[in-house]
Amino acid sequence: MPLSIVILAAGKGSRMKSRRPKVIHPLAGKPLLQHVIDTSRRLDPQQIVIVVGHEAEQVRETLAGQDCDFVVQREQLGTGHAVQQALASIAPGNDVLVLYGDVPLIREQTLLHLLAQAEEHGSTVCLLSFLADDPTGYGRILRDETGSVIAIVEEKDADDEIRRIRESNSGILMLRGNQAEELLSALDNDNAQGEYYLTDTVKHAVQRQWSVHAVICDDEEELLGVNNQKQLAGLESILRRRRADALMEQGVKLADPARIDIRGEIRVGMDVEINVGCILEGDIELGDGVRIGAHCCLKNVRIGAGTELLSHCVLEDCELGERNSIGPFARIRPQTRTAEQVKVGNFVEIKKSRIGKGSKVNHLAYIGDTEMGERVNIGAGAITCNYDGAYKHQTVIGDDVFVGSDVQLVAPVRVGEGATIGAGATITRDAPAGELTLSRAKQTTIKGWKRPSKKTGE
Ligand code: UD1
Ligand code: CA
Repeated sequence: MPLSIVILAAGKGSRMKSRRPKVIHPLAGKPLLQHVIDTSRRLDPQQIVIVVGHEAEQVRETLAGQDCDFVVQREQLGTGHAVQQALASIAPGNDVLVLYGDVPLIREQTLLHLLAQAEEHGSTVCLLSFLADDPTGYGRILRDETGSVIAIVEEKDADDEIRRIRESNSGILMLRGNQAEELLSALDNDNAQGEYYLTDTVKHAVQRQWSVHAVICDDEEELLGVNNQKQLAGLESILRRRRADALMEQGVKLADPARIDIRGEIRVGMDVEINVGCILEGDIELGDGVRIGAHCCLKNVRIGAGTELLSHCVLEDCELGERNSIGPFARIRPQTRTAEQVKVGNFVEIKKSRIGKGSKVNHLAYIGDTEMGERVNIGAGAITCNYDGAYKHQTVIGDDVFVGSDVQLVAPVRVGEGATIGAGATITRDAPAGELTLSRAKQTTIKGWKRPSKKTGE
């Protein structure tokens, strides 16, 4: 039967102490709920239905543009009630897999295993349980003497004997399509919390002698939920470790796997090295032999083979060619592209520019809205004045240009191939190719001039 995935995300999450609904708090750079949606997608379901309630609009807006159906649960009357709300949007007969917007680390393989076990056992209800070190707060799995699951009892409804059971309910379960509706409509709220419990589908299936199966998940980490900021930080560090592990498996040398943050997708070549304290966000591609120094922040960046970032560089939405040397303390802003063997030194900012092969911008420079040719040398403190207060203008610098220190290139302006611009010049008109252009007052010396000094006795 085709699969429908229902993600419960209606809860308020009041323990987050935040105005933001819990399920859109970011984990590793994306909303909690987005992690669950992404994992769901990989199971290739016919549809994904998200049950929203608290701050439903905000949740919907955050996840706009995705192929999901949203169902609003106006009052949170329990997990069973939440799934009931989704039922109307589900094609009749579809199997229903229930996931949680605040349980983001669940793995695709675990869910595939659950679905496969459900198939193998012909289960009407197949749930994911685990052996909790401390089961307090969880629903407990009751089995009969043959080991068959007969019920799930919530902590609040449990007596002392049941509370001693370690096998706990993860909350994740699958309901077989043809029986889902009957089981859900059998639910009542006659329990300690006055809620419609999804977990009671087990009891009703057993009463009908339909097969119920529990698959024990041996990785409790995957089942961790987020209820407060501390748990969110805990998950962040688990994910950080998982991602660091995955990078090392691909051959990346991490100076310290505990000191890297990856909040996106990374593709890497061979022999990549990353020093401590780096934050890698968005879509990142690192070519063979790329080395990243300590404390660099990269967001949506492609870096060519053999390029080295020295420490403390900040790069965003840019593309670096092969064998560049960047930093320390360089800032490369969006829409910048460098060719091969470019050198960018300390305290240099580059924005929306193309830097040709072998060019050097070594110290304290600002290059914005610039087309720079090959083998150009930009002196210390040189800047493009690309903004007139209203508009941005282009600077074009030809091949083999030498720009002296402390030059201002007032855009729009062109510097012809092979030109030399003398130090300190303010260039407001195009500088011809092959010539030296200066803008400099003649140097004078005032003979015998004395610095003012305080009179003695004053
Ligand atoms: C639930 C399970 C329990 C399991 C535990 C695992 C039930 C009755 N109990 O308990 O067996 O051990 O999860 O964490 O299912 N939600 C809605 N609408 C509602 C109620 C809940 O969308 O009306 C969502 C919440 O936002 C939350 C999730 O469902 O994401 C779980 O709800 P919660 O009230 O936390 O269930 P537990 O009491 O923890
Ligand atoms: Ca819970």
